[in-house]
Amino acid sequence: MTPIKTLFTPPGNPRVALADPSRDGHTDLDHLTSGEPLIGKSLMTSLNRRTFVAGAAAISGMAVLPRSALVQEALPVLRAAPSMAQLAPAGFPATPVWSYATQGAGLIPGPEIRVRAGERIRRRLVNDLPQPTAVHWHGIRIENAMDGAAPLTQAAVPPGAGFDYDFVAPDPGTYWYHSHNRGWEQVARGLAGPLIVEDRAPWLGEPGAATRELTLVLDDWLLDANAELVEDRWDDLHAAAHGGRLGNTVTVNGAAYPDLEARPGERVRLRLINTATARIMPLALPGLSPRLIALDGHPVPPRDVETILLGPAQRADVVVDVPLDLEAPSALFIDAGNGEWVSIAAIAAGGQPLEPSEEALLPLPAWGTLRAPDLAASQRETLVMEGGAMRGMSEAVYRGETMDFRELASNGMVWAFNGVAHGMDTPMFRADLGRTVQLEMTNRSMFPHAIHLHGHHFEVLARSGALNTSGDVRDTVLIGAEETLEIAFVADNPGKWMLHCHMLSHQASGMMGWFGVG
Ligand code: C2O
Ligand code: CU
Repeated sequence: MTPIKTLFTPPGNPRVALADPSRDGHTDLDHLTSGEPLIGKSLMTSLNRRTFVAGAAAISGMAVLPRSALVQEALPVLRAAPSMAQLAPAGFPATPVWSYATQGAGLIPGPEIRVRAGERIRRRLVNDLPQPTAVHWHGIRIENAMDGAAPLTQAAVPPGAGFDYDFVAPDPGTYWYHSHNRGWEQVARGLAGPLIVEDRAPWLGEPGAATRELTLVLDDWLLDANAELVEDRWDDLHAAAHGGRLGNTVTVNGAAYPDLEARPGERVRLRLINTATARIMPLALPGLSPRLIALDGHPVPPRDVETILLGPAQRADVVVDVPLDLEAPSALFIDAGNGEWVSIAAIAAGGQPLEPSEEALLPLPAWGTLRAPDLAASQRETLVMEGGAMRGMSEAVYRGETMDFRELASNGMVWAFNGVAHGMDTPMFRADLGRTVQLEMTNRSMFPHAIHLHGHHFEVLARSGALNTSGDVRDTVLIGAEETLEIAFVADNPGKWMLHCHMLSHQASGMMGWFGVG
């Protein structure tokens, strides 16, 4: 065990972790703490405290188009619209964002959607944004037409229009929903929210289980000195060729440095969700004996974890035991990227102490819905990732034309999958319905990637790096620089499924493709 003391924020360290936005995103990934170093220097101290008015004025002036076609049937509404959010600490200006709302003003993160496993989720997306949008239900093994993967499974919904989503959520776990059109801008502006599918069999409150659960949506924002989003860098090719468009302010449930109250002696299930567009988050909960119980919604045999590594779009369910003598406020820490751990949420003792559980931790009930891969009869496929700064690629095909790196870059492409940048015309591969696909992924670049497959969960078979454990079942996997990783899944969900890097500026600049099933 690393001495846990090193995880505490050094005295005098500002409780706001911010980086210089102009820095390169590259870090050495050997020890997995990739991403933009969060520098201990506080942007918030230099924030202009003037009252914020411009954003609010801009929002009230926004034209809302008539949508008579949408007022007929009553599906619960999920409205995407500009709003304001207090991302920076109190006393600093609110930030103009784009967010989801069920009624009234939008929230950061979006309103929690919660169903039981096997139940339907029905939402009418109403687009009050100035751009077309679509909602993707990340990690749900969904019916293809409801996947929200514009433009592959539906056309993006224009401003003033809507789209009805109606699907079953088959597997329990921690998920999220987010925009899937211009995600590198729309998710970065705030269009993301938690989606919780409750366990089939009772778990919470059972002997050895947690008595309470808490969803923690972690995000990363690129703010300027007025706490406004830096808006001129959505298509920043320099950032895209590095670690992506990284932020400088980490929020927990939409707030900078919130206080989370915990009763001494209680056992709590934390549902951690990384909704950042680029930041890999190494997390730690010193003094709380964190044990991992699920990854990307899928249960794992409980294991002690010193740190939890969450790439963009990944989730982890972690059980913590709050000690009876929690005195000095504990905290959720993030590796600032330079080996310095900084606090992003305080955990303070509050309420009546509980009798700590004597029971061994109860594992989550198994899904029972996922077919085991048949490796003896698998279809073998490969995915080679190339491009980015410092390594690049000699050439790749973009829109049917072979181009050199310079020409690709002039088309906004700096990455390729299997020699094709943004290959949306033809699938990377096709699989018959029910066939096991064994996919060997090789990262020939100098940056890590968070590879996400739509419509399926996969088993991690083997790896050359230290990021993943064999047997883990996930929907998004981190692959470090120059690593090889093998996964397998049963292609049992018919349709066209996107496969992309969830560092959304990498997705925008070439790391994007799809596969066909059935
Ligand atoms: Cu979470 Cu294709 O996305
Ligand atoms: Cu990537």
